[in-house]
Amino acid sequence: MKYDKFFSADVGSFLRSPVREIFKKVDLASIYSFAGGYPDAATFPIDDVRRISAQVLDRYGAKALQYGATQGLTELREVISARYGVPMERVQITTSSQQGIDVCTRVLADPGDVVLTSAPTYLGALQSFRSYRADVRTFEDIGDDFSKVKFCYVIPDFQNPSGETMDLEQREALVALAREHDFLIVEDCPYRELRYSGEPVPTIYSLAPERTLHLGTFSKVFAPGFRLGWMFGPEELLDKVYVCKQSLDLCPPILDQYLAAEFMGSGALDANLQKSIALYRGKRDKMLALLEKYMPAGVSWTHPEGGLFLFVTLPEGFDTVALYDRALTAGVAYVAGSFFYPDGSHRNTMRLNFSFLDTARMEPGIRLLADVIRSASPL
Ligand SMILES: Cc1ncc(COP(=O)(O)O)c(C=O)c1O
Repeated sequence: MKYDKFFSADVGSFLRSPVREIFKKVDLASIYSFAGGYPDAATFPIDDVRRISAQVLDRYGAKALQYGATQGLTELREVISARYGVPMERVQITTSSQQGIDVCTRVLADPGDVVLTSAPTYLGALQSFRSYRADVRTFEDIGDDFSKVKFCYVIPDFQNPSGETMDLEQREALVALAREHDFLIVEDCPYRELRYSGEPVPTIYSLAPERTLHLGTFSKVFAPGFRLGWMFGPEELLDKVYVCKQSLDLCPPILDQYLAAEFMGSGALDANLQKSIALYRGKRDKMLALLEKYMPAGVSWTHPEGGLFLFVTLPEGFDTVALYDRALTAGVAYVAGSFFYPDGSHRNTMRLNFSFLDTARMEPGIRLLADVIRSASPL
């Protein structure tokens, strides 16, 4: 049977994630993988979850398994509100920040509307923008015409994939541009609390609360399996997000929200975060030292102050998409950097994750990757 005629027009614009396709091809445990964005499983607080689960079920019983409010559990919104100093009316719980990105796009962008993004940018966000048939533009190709821009999407802290952070001047300049041309800002901050060096920079939300939707998540500071995040924004915007979420999932998962509220509110999150930061700082430093030791001349990379990724640039003419199968056969995986550019350019770049692989396996992995690069000739 042919199914084509049944699909909506949106389906034609769906973008398949090359990263997820890579994961289908290989068993991550059998190779040196710098490809995914997975946290180190050692940071998952299994004992805390066991203890808190029992407490929550004792305290709330069936309530913890019932449907709940679409805005999210009051207890969790209160804890998030207190932690980040944002009034509770401006806090919406999301079923992950990926959903937050998707809901923002659905609520704000019609087909043909411009979504402005940095390049490179997060692939999952590009997937959402494309699926609603938004016209995705970068700062490089927007020129002076901001008239059709509905919102600008940025990841200001330790960006995925580049690892770079916007300084205060850049954040203020973006806010000034948004005010001048009257567009909104979606600020995606999954890595903000994973800082290993340098000083925190104020959020864009704190600079322009009237026109910013700020996205946070438990994925990198608790466990991604919970699929829980949050959104801050003006009440009028959150009201539309709220109605949109009614049709998406009615409410975020209740038991998960009780656990997250207890984990964050009791101080267990901060204790766990301290350990995670120490672990990841060591991994980042190790990764930077290994790149220095093994990479051939002409290869450069970013020096992130936090997060899970750094971005490598090979000399002009190298093609990391073409090189990928050879790397995989040799036993090492990365994500080609061009996947993070809306136009597929910058084929001489790659994203490397430093959080997932065991510290002891980093050295043979980077040595192998450097060998693969050395053996490749530019096109
Ligand atoms: C920039 C960015 N936004 C959002 C997400 C999705 O996070 P979540 O697990 O909360 O959906 C990721 C995950 O890697 C990310 O890198």
